Amino acid sequence: MIHIAIFASGNGSNAENIVNYFAQNSNIQVSIIISNKKDAFVHERAKKFGIPSFTFSREEFQTGDLILSKMVDYEIDFIVLAGFLLKVPNSIMNAYPGRIINIHPALLPKFGGKGMYGGYVHQAVKDANETETGITIHYINENYDEGDVIFQAKCSILSSDTPDDIAHKVQSLEQRHFPEIIESLVKKINKK
Ligand code: GRF
Repeated sequence: MIHIAIFASGNGSNAENIVNYFAQNSNIQVSIIISNKKDAFVHERAKKFGIPSFTFSREEFQTGDLILSKMVDYEIDFIVLAGFLLKVPNSIMNAYPGRIINIHPALLPKFGGKGMYGGYVHQAVKDANETETGITIHYINENYDEGDVIFQAKCSILSSDTPDDIAHKVQSLEQRHFPEIIESLVKKINKK
């Protein structure tokens, strides 16, 4: 069995979609959800599926030890950041080389970096009069949104689209592609 951990700070629609996608898979499962916010809606979603979810403070994330020990407890093989707003510390990155990915709601390298999350991204895309946007799934490194790109998908933007309209288009790309990309990556893990 391949065990996935999802790190999420907020709503958790991607987390739920990923959990659902693997629910029928006997070899891959989401085993734990980790957040930095105790009132994040992702915990409600976790509860609904009977998946253990935990909250750690910003300081605990900076150190990484407690999170790593949870990863060991749940035999985690792969980490998915889905709307997770804190930086992942080196200790966790070193323990999971090439096994931590993030999804960004725009076509990186455009509209990435610190402070570029959620509605801010779609507003910036709108302000720049872009005619297309999309999603980027990438490995993480020590800088926000700069790790190697794994996959991108695009959608077009009409001049009449509001930032909310753009968000909906991007969310539908996330729902369609993120679980499949995760599946293709975790299938390459050779578990002894
Ligand atoms: C998504 O748009 C994702 O691309 C971004 O944050 C948002 C999270 O949404 N990194 P949700 O919490 O999965 O609903």
